[in-house]
Amino acid sequence: MTGSVKSTVLPLLLLSFLLYIADSYPNSDMSNMGCEECTLRKNSLFSMERPVYQCMGCCFSRAYPTPLKSKKTMTIPKNITSEATCCVAKHSYEMEVAGIKVRNHTDCHCSTCYFHKQ
Ligand SMILES: *[C@@H]1O[C@H](CO)[C@@H](O)[C@H](O)[C@H]1NC(C)=O
Ligand SMILES: *[C@@H]1O[C@H](CO)[C@@H](O)[C@H](O)[C@H]1NC(C)=O
Repeated sequence: MTGSVKSTVLPLLLLSFLLYIADSYPNSDMSNMGCEECTLRKNSLFSMERPVYQCMGCCFSRAYPTPLKSKKTMTIPKNITSEATCCVAKHSYEMEVAGIKVRNHTDCHCSTCYFHKQ
């Protein structure tokens, strides 16, 4: 009897433990996990004869109460505004590596996020 109870309890404990792990993930701050400071990093894919650099990393993100004057301009007023910046190139120039156009970044900073241009 005790043996069969044990064999059902153990998988249940394991399952609830796994659910607990899965459940706790969205609450943790994912944005800062495994994310280093915004700097120039060597792009290993395009660095053949000469190194090609690219901006990578994280910048700050924060949430603060929405200022009154910007609240009025919002279509859906939110009490909390979140703001984030992205690691983008301050200076870069286009060049070709093996017939592929890539940008060699020379300087990085945290600025407005844009994804269509790099
Ligand atoms: C925002 O704050 C106001 C007053 O502090 C409150 O009445 C309102 O319900 C809040 N709105 C939301 C979406 O939390
Ligand atoms: C990219 O720029 C760095 C300096 O910013 C330079 O040393 C490197 O040679 C450049 N890479 C290529 C492929 O031109």
